[in-house]
Amino acid sequence: MDRTTTGITGFDEMITGGLPKNSLTLLTGTCGTGKTTFCAQFLYNGATRFGERGVYISFEESPELVKMDMKQFGMDFDALEAERKVVFIKYDPYHIEDIFDIIESNVRLTGATRVCIDSISALGLYVRDIPELRRMIFNLGMTLRKLNCTSIITSEIPPGSTGISRFGVEEFISDSVIVLYYFKSETTFTRAITIWKMRATNHSKKIHPYEINETGFVTYPQEEAVMK
Ligand SMILES: Nc1ncnc2c1ncn2[C@@H]1O[C@H](COP(=O)(O)OP(=O)(O)OP(=O)(O)O)[C@@H](O)[C@H]1O
Ligand SMILES: [Mg+2]
Repeated sequence: MDRTTTGITGFDEMITGGLPKNSLTLLTGTCGTGKTTFCAQFLYNGATRFGERGVYISFEESPELVKMDMKQFGMDFDALEAERKVVFIKYDPYHIEDIFDIIESNVRLTGATRVCIDSISALGLYVRDIPELRRMIFNLGMTLRKLNCTSIITSEIPPGSTGISRFGVEEFISDSVIVLYYFKSETTFTRAITIWKMRATNHSKKIHPYEINETGFVTYPQEEAVMK
C-alpha cells in the first residue's frame, strides 16, 4: 500500500505511515477544531517536504483570509502559490455542477496529487436534497481518485450533535474518517482526535489528545485523552 505522508506531527504514526494514496478522507469536527489548519499543513508539507503539489478549494471562506491565518503557524503560501505548488480556489456554490471541471482543470494544470475541499458543509445550503448531495460527494470522490489525488474533505458537525458528519452521508462515501473532538472537562476544553475508519490500514483505535500551538496541528499518539 502506497501512502501519502501528511507530515503532521504525531499523526502519521497513528495510521501506519500516512493516508492511503489516492483515497478520500473525511475530516470532521465542530467549529474551531482545526480542520483548516490540518488541511493547510497537509498541503504545505506536501509542497515543501515531499515534492507534491496541492489544490485547496473553499466554498465560503476567502483564500486570502486562510493564507493570512496560516502565516502565524509559519506557513507562507504566497511563494508556493507563485510557483503553482499550492493553488487556492474559492468556489461559488451557486454553480455547483461546475466544480468537477474546476477541480480537474486545476489538478491537471498544477500536476497536484493532494487536494483539500474545505468545507463541504456549505453544499447543503445549495443542494438540499440528501440523495442528490450524496451523489454529488460520491462523484467528487470519483473525480479525485481518477486524477490520482489523495484528498481530504472537511465537514462541520453541528455543536451537540452525536453524529460524525453534517449530512450523515459523507462518512459512507469516504475511504477514511478522522473525527476531531472538543469537549469540556472541569475548567478547560480538551481537544482529541480519533481515526473512525481508514481503508486498508491498521490504525490506532484510541482517542488521542492533540493541540494547536504556534507550529500548528500537533497530535500525541502515545497519549490517550479521557472524554467525560
Ligand atoms: N496561534 C495559535 N495558537 C494556538 N491555537 C490557535 C492559534 N491560532 C488559532 N488557534 C486555534 O485554532 C482554532 C481555529 O483553527 P481552524 O481555523 O483550523 O479550525 P476550523 O475547524 O477550520 O474552524 P471552522 O469550523 O471555523 O472552519 C481557533 O479556534 C483557535 O482555538
Ligand atoms: Mg475552517
